This record gives sequence, C-alpha cells and structure tokens, in this order.
Amino acid sequence: MGNSTYRIGVIGLGYVGLPLAVEFSKYFPVVGFDINKKRIEELHKCSDHTLEVDEELLKSVIVAKAPENNTNGLYCSGDINDIRGCNVYFVTVPTPVDRNNRPDLNPLYRASETVGKVLKKGDIVVYESTVYPGVTEDECVPVLEQTSGLVFNTDFYCGYSPERINPGDKTRTISQIKKITSGSTPEVADKVDELYKTIVIAGTHKAASIKVAEAAKVIENAQRDINIAFVNELAKIFNLLNIDTSEVLAASATKWNFLPFKPGLVGGHCISVDPYYLAQKAQEVGYHPEIILAGRRLNDGMGMYIANEVVKLMIKNDLTVKGANVLLLGITFKENCPDVRNTRVVDIIRELWSFQVNLTIYDPWADPEDVAHEYKIDIITKLPEGKLYDSIVLAVAHKDFLETDWRERVKPGGVIYDVKGCLDKNMVSARL
Ligand SMILES: NC(=O)c1ccc[n+]([C@@H]2O[C@H](COP(=O)([O-])OP(=O)(O)OC[C@H]3O[C@@H](n4cnc5c(N)ncnc54)[C@H](O)[C@@H]3O)[C@@H](O)[C@H]2O)c1
Repeated sequence: MGNSTYRIGVIGLGYVGLPLAVEFSKYFPVVGFDINKKRIEELHKCSDHTLEVDEELLKSVIVAKAPENNTNGLYCSGDINDIRGCNVYFVTVPTPVDRNNRPDLNPLYRASETVGKVLKKGDIVVYESTVYPGVTEDECVPVLEQTSGLVFNTDFYCGYSPERINPGDKTRTISQIKKITSGSTPEVADKVDELYKTIVIAGTHKAASIKVAEAAKVIENAQRDINIAFVNELAKIFNLLNIDTSEVLAASATKWNFLPFKPGLVGGHCISVDPYYLAQKAQEVGYHPEIILAGRRLNDGMGMYIANEVVKLMIKNDLTVKGANVLLLGITFKENCPDVRNTRVVDIIRELWSFQVNLTIYDPWADPEDVAHEYKIDIITKLPEGKLYDSIVLAVAHKDFLETDWRERVKPGGVIYDVKGCLDKNMVSARL
C-alpha cells in the first residue's frame, strides 16, 4: 500500500478524533464517522463546539461528499457505507469508567463492530483511545475478527498510537506533540509510523509492541495523578502548619530535579480515569496497586476538602454560612476549555450545598445545557452587574477570571478562596 493509496476512516469525531481527521485530510482522503448525528450536522456547518479546530481550518478541509481517491479532504458522516472504501481506520472513541470506576469498553466494542463490518483484506485498524495494556489485541481484535470473518495478522492488521493532546492548548497541538506508534507486525509498525510522520512535525517514537504503546500512555497519566496527589497531601499538611504551600513549592522548585506540580482538583476523562484502567488490569493479574489507588483516593477527596476549608474561613470571619451567597468561578474540568465531563468542581458544589449555601456558579466557557444535562446543576455564563457576594471561590483558572479584581465583588469580610493559586496573593483570603 503506497502513500497515495491510503484512504483513511476516523471513527469518533470528538476532542481527539476531529483534530486527527483534519490533519490527515490535508494529505489524504478522509471520512470521519460518528454515531452522534448532532456532531455530524455541526461539522457539516464547519463548526466545532469543542473549540479544538477553528472554523477557517474546518472550511478549508471539509468537503460535501466523500473525497475521491487521491483527493485530500474530510467528509463527515454517520453512515457506515461512507467508510467502506477506507483501508486504514483510526478509532478515537471514549474509554470511560462506570459508576464503580471499572473500565467501560463498550464504545470500543461498538466501534470495532462498525469497522469489522467494512474491513477488507490488507486493511489496518489503529486504536488511539486510552486503554490498559492488552485491550487492542485481546479485546478489540476478537470483535474485528468475528464481525469481519477475517484473520488477524493474516488478512488485516492493527496498530496502537495513544493521543497526547491537551484540550484548550493552542501551542501543543497534535502535529507538535511527539507520537508513540506501534503495529501488530514489524512491517505494519513501520507503515503506521510513516503515516503518522506525515502529520506529526514533532516526530514519532516507534514502540516495541502494541502493549508497550498502550502501557506507555496509561502510565503517563497515572504518573501525573500520583504527583498531584503528593502535592495535594502537602497542601493539607502545610495548611495545618500555616505555611503557604505555593511558597514552599516555589522554593523547592529551585532544585534542578524537583518536579513542579501544583495542588488542585483532578478531573477530566484522562488523568482521573486512566489510573483505574491500569489498576483494573493489575488486579486481573493478581496485583493490588497501592500507590496508584491511594493517589486516586486522595485526589478524589479534594473537592470536599476545599469546600470545608471555605466554610471554616467563612465561620472564622463571622459570616453566616447557611443561606450565604457564594459565587463559584468555573465548572469545566480545566481552564479555557468547554469540557465539563468528569469535572471535580461538582464535588465542591455538592459539599457547599450540604452546608445550605446559596451558590451561584459562573462559567462563561461552559454550555449551561451540557451542565444541566450531565449534573442537574444550573450555571450562569454572564455575571450580574454590581452584585456583591458573601464569598467567592475560584475553581478554574479561565483567562477571563484572571483579569478581574474579585475584591470588588465580595462584601466586606467576605472570603476569596483561590483553588488554582492563580490570583494575586493580596486579593485572596487563602489558596489551596
Ligand atoms: N480529550 C482528551 O484530552 C484526550 C487526550 C488523550 C486521549 N484521550 C482519549 O481519546 C479517546 C477519545 O476521547 P475524546 O475526548 O475525543 O472523546 P469525545 O467524547 O470527545 O469523542 C468521542 C466521539 O466518539 C463518538 N462515538 C462514541 N461511540 C462511537 C462509535 N461506536 N462509533 C462512532 N463514534 C462513536 C462520540 O459520539 C464522540 O463524538 C478516549 O479514550 C480518551 O481517553 C482523550
């Protein structure tokens, strides 16, 4: 299969799939497939609610019908027939956890069935979804074989290449981040690597096997989770000792090998989810992870801790907690991004509600419908002019929040609590 004969199908056009499809479509004919009709409709209008790809770029690549072979462009579709002619598939569907934090592989099974239905001899299926080691070959390949009737590594081949994008980050975009690649045979690993090299300026790292590539991704996020858990623990200790954690961290960071992590909430669908994938696999093979799950527990408890700290400060300032008007800034799982999935700000909200605080949640980045649908929480996207609050909690460091002097929005004696440590120290009563 020469470069000019690649015809690419991308399954799942979300935060990961759309930027990938767009990059490939600059060099190859690409069909993006998604089961979400609304998503396909918005992409036909060259609009992306995730804000990962701007309208101009979408307009330059999106085409109105499936591109001919040897013609570049991206066609988005919810019809499986449109991906029939593809010979390389990239699967970028979600890999969430269930209510008990167990990996939910259903989207991957369903997407593998879809690909299996259109798979032909010689095709390659590359998975990008974050998984534990073994999912591609032990979970997805059997579905591909069963649905297609073809034989793995004889009729069709697989690859795994984890995604490292950072939503909202306009500098480290997909082409600027080194990409780990792998394939089910040495020849396929070379092909997959070459294919990614077309779009990734930062270069690639060809892993020794699919399982190595899968494991590499999942530990990147588990490592971050554990490091953040450590500084969260430090924040709790230094708070009891009346020492400013950020000042301690700044001092320690002057050593060449000190890692500059900050305390905070750990949400989203990567760092707070991936460690559970690794833990599940470890338990399956008889090892009960201690550090990985301790990190998870500690980080998951931070929302409740923050809410309690705010309430203690309010009581210290002689404020009546019950019925107090508290303004909470930000609900997305991270700054400058509209994604609210698995945001841990909801833990702060629920804990403050348990004290019967009257909360106003303000986030100009979040979609109120999304928040209401996912959490049954009402938010505002515009702050009422002139209204003063009994206390203010900054939970997300959106750039919009950094330009305001929040002292002008709080009543005398009110608490300003900075979870992110991003406001001027003189402005805040305390920070995490
Ligand atoms: N968002 C990130 O920052 C990020 C970074 C690195 C890795 N990842 C991983 O990438 C994967 C995708 O994440 P995402 O954030 O892009 O998810 P997403 O929810 O933004 O997008 C997934 C898309 O897949 C579609 N989909 C679901 N099931 C499908 C199916 N059977 N067939 C076709 N389409 C289907 C959904 O409709 C959705 O549009 C996950 O495994 C995630 O852990 C995400």
